[in-house]
Amino acid sequence: MPESQSTTCVPRHVAIIMDGNGRWARKRALPRHAGHRSGVKSVRETVEIAAQRGVSYLTLFAFSSENWRRPADEVRKLMGLFIDALRREVDDLHRNNVRLQFIGAREQLDTRLLDKITAAEERTADNDGLHLIVAVAYGGRWDIVEAARRIGERAAAGEIDPADIGEDMLAAELQLADVPDPDLLIRTGGEHRISNFLLWNLAYAELWFCDVLWPDFRQREFDQALDFYAQRQRRYGHTGDQREAVKC
Ligand code: IPE
Ligand code: IPE
Ligand code: MG
Repeated sequence: MPESQSTTCVPRHVAIIMDGNGRWARKRALPRHAGHRSGVKSVRETVEIAAQRGVSYLTLFAFSSENWRRPADEVRKLMGLFIDALRREVDDLHRNNVRLQFIGAREQLDTRLLDKITAAEERTADNDGLHLIVAVAYGGRWDIVEAARRIGERAAAGEIDPADIGEDMLAAELQLADVPDPDLLIRTGGEHRISNFLLWNLAYAELWFCDVLWPDFRQREFDQALDFYAQRQRRYGHTGDQREAVKC
């Protein structure tokens, strides 16, 4: 194990944009869905390594609010894959003390998927190992708008004074209200963009991009990202000298 992994600088919360499934399939002259299916193996391995390395929260971007724009057949097969993956993986996750949570616009999901999601969340709710969060039908802008609407409703009802609206109040209405902000964002697939993921919560995340396509993402790449993180100095606006004593 590289030396830096033995330090205490393990990110508490890792968020991943799992990108590149379609290109992985295309390179093999396979349908896009074969790439999505193969990506499930990377998810399984990533969850295991995250737990082994001492990560407390892992948030995976599985389907964005913009991904509804894809061909209906791809969307339908993806939703079927999520249902199958839940059917196959929840027993193991539960055995490994993983707590599962989903974020996103649930009302947009098919009831078959929604039922599986609710059952998985209820079953694993008391687990205190890795907290695994899966973003489905999720968009960072949607999340902020929903939070703003709820605060607006409370202000209109006279429950709060608009002058009291601040960052904490808004953060408390977001999907990840009770979860610390991601420390490290990983994006596979070579694109250097956020694609409407956790816009609010990623404000101070360290960003790590790699060209590897998601179905090829394995322990080696995860450890590279953790090593990169371990070498960062997080300044939050302070000077480097001010932060010297608090690396990571
Ligand atoms: C990520 O892989 C999975 C989802 C967005 C659902 P893509 O399907 O975006 O793969 P590429 O980017 O086309 O290769
Ligand atoms: C981001 O990937 C969403 C997920 C990984 C779920 P996309 O492939 O949808 O992102 P863009 O469209 O290339 O920005
Ligand atoms: Mg993509």
